[in-house]
Amino acid sequence: MSEIIYNGFDPLVQPPALYPEYKSTVLRAPSKPLVLLKKSLAELSGPVFGDINLGPLDNDLTKNSIRNGEPIGERIVVHGTVKDEWGRPIPHALIEVWQANACGRYVHKVDQHDAPLDPNFLGTGRCLTDAEGNYRFYTIKPGAYPWGNHHNAWRPNHIHFSVFGANIGSRLVTQMYFPGDPLLQYDPIFLGVPPAGRELLISQFDLSLTEPNFALGYRFDIVLRGSGATPFENR
Ligand SMILES: [Fe+2]
Repeated sequence: MSEIIYNGFDPLVQPPALYPEYKSTVLRAPSKPLVLLKKSLAELSGPVFGDINLGPLDNDLTKNSIRNGEPIGERIVVHGTVKDEWGRPIPHALIEVWQANACGRYVHKVDQHDAPLDPNFLGTGRCLTDAEGNYRFYTIKPGAYPWGNHHNAWRPNHIHFSVFGANIGSRLVTQMYFPGDPLLQYDPIFLGVPPAGRELLISQFDLSLTEPNFALGYRFDIVLRGSGATPFENR
């Protein structure tokens, strides 16, 4: 079986496995040197999800779980292009997103933050890139929320992304942030990413993507693998 050549993680961009200020990494990070496995054809031929049929509201988190009204918060539309490490657009990539509601609360039993749930907002959705690698989804701008990492720790506003590209070896799990968020400078998850990678995680407000009288537009472009890759949220 022939070896598949991918560019590896770029340490100038990708976060280290151990970043002590992000306390979960202390127990999670490998304590011994990694054993590199030989890449195989399975990475190129393994199951991917580009052919599934999405529901008509899967890419609209403002509508996909409405029960008795509109979700509360600021409507936004997120656009972007998914490319590979050589700059080629990736069509039919599956993008799954999940996030807190406008008050900073997830619909999850582990989330006990004393902020209201929104009966009309689940906070999950998905979409596929088109033939040119472009994607788009609608949602509510997520709120900040506290977490137990350290005293007075708050996560910046963020949307979690999982991206499946042309094969399983190109999967990316990351977080999209918002420009100008004052919490970024205090967030160890964001700061665990080397400086050269941080800007790749911050979306750009774009008036041309903004839909009049409806939703503010943000652009978040994604690169899978290679030296310009969008940083993983951790390793
Ligand atoms: Fe989160």
